[in-house]
Amino acid sequence: MEKTILVTGGAGFIGSHVVRRFARNYPGYMIVNLDKLTYAGNLDNLRDVENLPNYRFEKGDITNAAFMEDLFDRHRFDAVIHLAAESHVDRSITGPMEFISTNIIGTVNLLNAAKSRWTAGSPDSLFFHISTDEVYGSLGSGGLFTEKTAYDPRSPYSASKASSDHMVRAWHHTYKLPVVISNCSNNYGPNQFPEKLIPLAIHNIQTNKEIPVYGKGENIRDWLYVEDHAAAIDLIFHKGKTGETYNIGGNNEWKNIDLIRLLCGIMDKKLGRPEGASEKLITFVRDRAGHDLRYAIDNSKVSSELGWKPSVSFREGLEKTADWYLENEKWVSAVICGNYLEYYNEQYNNR
Ligand code: NAD
Ligand code: DAU
Repeated sequence: MEKTILVTGGAGFIGSHVVRRFARNYPGYMIVNLDKLTYAGNLDNLRDVENLPNYRFEKGDITNAAFMEDLFDRHRFDAVIHLAAESHVDRSITGPMEFISTNIIGTVNLLNAAKSRWTAGSPDSLFFHISTDEVYGSLGSGGLFTEKTAYDPRSPYSASKASSDHMVRAWHHTYKLPVVISNCSNNYGPNQFPEKLIPLAIHNIQTNKEIPVYGKGENIRDWLYVEDHAAAIDLIFHKGKTGETYNIGGNNEWKNIDLIRLLCGIMDKKLGRPEGASEKLITFVRDRAGHDLRYAIDNSKVSSELGWKPSVSFREGLEKTADWYLENEKWVSAVICGNYLEYYNEQYNNR
């Protein structure tokens, strides 16, 4: 094998697309997927690659330092692509401690394990930390987040991710650990857990349930198809400069309410419903606490230096995503089990 890469959180939404891409496109790389399999981790996301000779799964928790040290000893990783995290803002508001533990302590455990094994001279070693645009805070109606925008996280989730970014940079500056960071905007696509806006709305439309829109639906997000994010990660992993940060976004800003209306139209056609039928399910509910107004990414560094740009239009991406959820009802019904219903009721009843 040319190199052995640890992908953390590979059973989750983005992680599974990254594992698939790397395992299929680079048969000379051994891909080790380390995942705790929380409610968001699902090995069904990887059925099509689980038998490849260059793929291994390890169940474990990044907050367990001794386990991580042992894992590094057993596999002698050349590189890490770190995606494992608690990722849902609403859950961070009701239960922040899990976010502090996994996103901060878990990241530091990985940094320590890598640092003690990779000498300054290891030419191929790289710690690639996958982060979010939410670390930059919230924009007003104008402006874009660049790599130089000051950090201003405002939710327990984004504060925990910002903290992990700072730790990664500290290990680079202090211990010379070779690192790279990417900060990406909102992803959507197949395999996303139906707590996030787009898959939740698809499921509710299909099952004729209310579509909960927070506040007035005026918050804006910059949406990117998940495979375009995986392609950017591939490019940065191979061509990015050590010590640098790359922002990744879709150049695709949508107000939540406009997005939901677009999705309703797409779903009406797919489900054979009269035009406008699904829009009747839209229900405005109490806003998220501290709800960031707008995120939008300036992509110019990753596009001018590395030649990346999004390839999937929003309409095409939403069509593909809706088709995937409609064709994978078994996947959906398996994740919408008791715990999900409990979460859903707590989150949305009496809202
Ligand atoms: P996800 O919630 O779908 O998946 C997270 C994965 O991490 C799951 O498989 C889970 O089991 C695993 N995990 C959680 N805690 C763990 C622990 N203690 N030890 C080991 N594994 C653990 O998340 P996602 O949406 O795929 O996001 C992946 C990464 O990308 C996160 O770091 C997130 O902050 C970042 N990100 C996400 C988005 C987005 O729009 N979803 C955008 C930008 C950045
Ligand atoms: O920007 C990148 C971030 O995008 C990632 O770092 C996070 O991991 C990811 O979860 C996502 O965060 P958001 O909070 O933007 O995503 P979410 O899908 O939860 O919400 C998108 C928008 O829709 C947001 O303005 C809140 C709103 N919303 C969300 C839900 C779940 C609703 O109006 N109703 C809902 O039921």
